[in-house]
Amino acid sequence: MITFESQFSPTVNSIKAQIAEDIRVLDFRPDTVADFGCGDGRTTLALSILLHPARLTGIDNDQNVNNAANTQLSTLKPRLTELNIPLPIFIVGDVVTGQDLPSEVEFGYSRRLLGNVWGPFCENLAAAQQVLQKAICNISRSLSSKGWLIMVEESAQHNDYTKYLEEAGLFVQEKTTFTYSGTVLPMTRYVCRKQPTAK
Ligand SMILES: C[S@@+](CC[C@H](N)C(=O)[O-])C[C@H]1O[C@@H](n2cnc3c(N)ncnc32)[C@H](O)[C@@H]1O
Repeated sequence: MITFESQFSPTVNSIKAQIAEDIRVLDFRPDTVADFGCGDGRTTLALSILLHPARLTGIDNDQNVNNAANTQLSTLKPRLTELNIPLPIFIVGDVVTGQDLPSEVEFGYSRRLLGNVWGPFCENLAAAQQVLQKAICNISRSLSSKGWLIMVEESAQHNDYTKYLEEAGLFVQEKTTFTYSGTVLPMTRYVCRKQPTAK
């Protein structure tokens, strides 16, 4: 990990500290990392800096945010290149359909993704559960046989994703409720390991 305080963009710098906290339990240096539901790419860029020299892929199903991520990347490219940090790639992919997801990912990260996945179906519990199950299964399939997943979601009494993660062959070894420094919104962090028997 790069431990010195490099100057990147203020947005990436502010998120880097939060993500450093999320991934501090990782006890190995992954080569292949995917950021599922990466939005405008800030989280992916922060992961690239923190997990250097891992190869990062940021995935989002929205072409507009993919464009925004690539714009952000072009701004940071000179600084990343100067520090020999591999440039992440941003792809359009969908965790629900499984379309264009990477494979053999050693470490998967996602933050504030699942609420966006089931939110549109919140009036229909069965449909929301189904879409959630598909998304988590597809993420699990993207991981290598000993892959890790760290998933951070907004906490709410009715949102416990443990059952879905375990059904998808992901053993939840740690589940923590916390707030990022300087914020008030309670978040839950799931640290998961793929079970060797998972498909
Ligand atoms: C709230 S944003 C979070 C962005 C980033 N992870 C962060 O924490 O700043 C959620 C993102 O999930 C993406 N998303 C929603 N459904 C998705 C799907 N089925 N597959 C991939 N990405 C999806 C949205 O387009 C959006 O960019």
